Amino acid sequence: MQIIKTVAEMKDFVHKIKAAGKSLALVPTMGYLHQGHLTLMREAKAACNTVVTSIFVNPLQFGVGEDYEEYPRDLTRDAQLAEPAGVDAIFAPAVAEMYPKGYHTFVDVEEITNHLCGRSRAGHFRGVTTVVNKLFNIVQPDKAFFGQKDAQQVLVIKRMVADLNMNLEIVTVPIVREEDGLAMSSRNVYLTPEERRAALMLNRSLQQAKAAIEAGERRGSAIRDMIVQTIETEKLANIDYVEVVAMSSLEPQEKLEGEILIALAVRFGKTRLIDNIMLTV
Ligand code: PAJ
Repeated sequence: MQIIKTVAEMKDFVHKIKAAGKSLALVPTMGYLHQGHLTLMREAKAACNTVVTSIFVNPLQFGVGEDYEEYPRDLTRDAQLAEPAGVDAIFAPAVAEMYPKGYHTFVDVEEITNHLCGRSRAGHFRGVTTVVNKLFNIVQPDKAFFGQKDAQQVLVIKRMVADLNMNLEIVTVPIVREEDGLAMSSRNVYLTPEERRAALMLNRSLQQAKAAIEAGERRGSAIRDMIVQTIETEKLANIDYVEVVAMSSLEPQEKLEGEILIALAVRFGKTRLIDNIMLTV
């Protein structure tokens, strides 16, 4: 497995893979890899000959006062985990390599970025779509792999790929959870033991909502209220949002039908966690 730090070397690697007629998959990450990321890599390897994963903590997608500085970084550890997951090359550029002096181009997907995380994290998705666009141009993958954990991110990326006629397939992988149900996240390392225990309420509240819908509840507001009440029983939890929306538009849904997404973001101390569940009613 190679560790590549410059755009020029990465393009060179890609050129050789393409010349050999091999298929190429990209798994974009910000590193501090866990089983969620590694599942994306294994799926990528099952689908394509060659797997590139990018490890880049993208400053553009962090807002003022967010955790850009503290975000966990450990390339040595990440490399040890990525190689057995089937990764052929890690692309780990420095910030100045991705955004050199004079950088002035941004990609912005409108509408669906006005909801959920887009509403509470101004400019976040502009940062995501800009860096992912750059990564797609540098690596030119046949397929790129994203986790359902970031449900809105998947929709935004798919919108960008369709709108800009990009030549690749976006593959989505289900949420990977810890044994006790907590969705895996690089940010889970921030949690104190008490916060870690309190955070179990996220998946629990989503499962409870799912059971209520399966038992016939069709009112979006009733489902939302139920989740809010369940989470609020945890004193350490601070709700950012709980939304019951249509999967395609991310617009809130009162009468539940078709594909729906129940998504939430909740703070535990300084740590903001997200989770979601997709249901077809
Ligand atoms: P990061 O949070 O590192 O996540 C990288 C990829 O792993 C994303 O597609 C994310 O959805 C997926 N992922 C994270 N936790 C997961 C879990 N528990 N189960 C399944 N998949 C999971 O998302 C980003 O980085 C960045 O925004 C990025 C796309 C790299 C752009 O900077």
